[in-house]
Amino acid sequence: MVTLPAPFPAARLRRMRAAPSRRRLVREHALCADDLIWPIFVQEGDAETPIPSMPGVARLSVDGAVRAAETAAELGIPAICLFPSVDPALKTEDCAEAWNPGNLSNRAIRAIKAAVPQIAVMTDVALDPYNINGHDGFVVDGRILNDETVAALVRMTLAQAEAGADIIGPSDMMDGRIGAMRGALEDAGHKDVAILSYAAKYASGFYGPFRDAVGASGRLVGDKATYQMDPGNSDEALRLAARDMAEGADMVMVKPGMPYLDICRRVKTELQVPTFAYQVSGEYAMLKGAAQNGWLDGASVMMESLLCFKRAGCDGILTYFAPEAARTLAAEARAGG
Ligand code: PBG
Repeated sequence: MVTLPAPFPAARLRRMRAAPSRRRLVREHALCADDLIWPIFVQEGDAETPIPSMPGVARLSVDGAVRAAETAAELGIPAICLFPSVDPALKTEDCAEAWNPGNLSNRAIRAIKAAVPQIAVMTDVALDPYNINGHDGFVVDGRILNDETVAALVRMTLAQAEAGADIIGPSDMMDGRIGAMRGALEDAGHKDVAILSYAAKYASGFYGPFRDAVGASGRLVGDKATYQMDPGNSDEALRLAARDMAEGADMVMVKPGMPYLDICRRVKTELQVPTFAYQVSGEYAMLKGAAQNGWLDGASVMMESLLCFKRAGCDGILTYFAPEAARTLAAEARAGG
């Protein structure tokens, strides 16, 4: 219930906004480096390749990914999330590279865990980086197969856990995958491997720059609307998040982030579970692009957009801004808030 203020002038709500010190005292939500998961892209070879539609983001080598993990550790960012840009020659219909213990992603996990063990490594579980069709599941006659895909995702999960992944991130939106993964992880003795389920993942136009980054853009035949959520739905997001927790997920995610803050709030209020949002590539591109054109103040909209996720109920945010935001937070702390 909202407590009504005394009538004016006894209540002047501007009083508590009158100086920075008071605003700091009564601020309800704050962002800190602990809230951030930093998604990074890896590729084969030694080169670093900038991603034009994501200014400031590049595909890194495995060594570059290790350096990024070191940077994360220095900045107090607890976790990074790996996305491989897979050699086109390795993309097939059977997606077998996805569960190859020596694939790019698994090599990067091993290298990071060997060099910076205190950083949590999160992975992506979906077939799209390995799929000649660009879809997250197996495609037969234009249809995306559910159960066969889940079996493949389980193999992929086990290979990642074997490589040392701390947090498995199923982004595929197949039904039944969380239970299958959790059962397989338990059976294989990976009892402490966490699952952050992309539970409410919408079929969104905001993933465009990401698909450029992992080389999936030209490949995708059709769209992902038979497995990702319809942007018009909200109750369904709660059913998905509740189901995934019941199947053994430890945390759930809403994706994209900014256009779906209402979903973040509902998940947190109605389910009271660890809730994350993914501020996706298109959101990053919008803010960066506008800042580069001088249309927005980049630093201020970055921090404002991230704080809004906290206000909406999120415990943490996956964001390409993670290192820049953590640096800003550190500078603010030095300057005394
Ligand atoms: C694919 C995947 C996507 C993203 C993360 N994992 C794209 C998609 O579903 O097509 C998008 C992330 C972003 O846009 O930043 N499984």
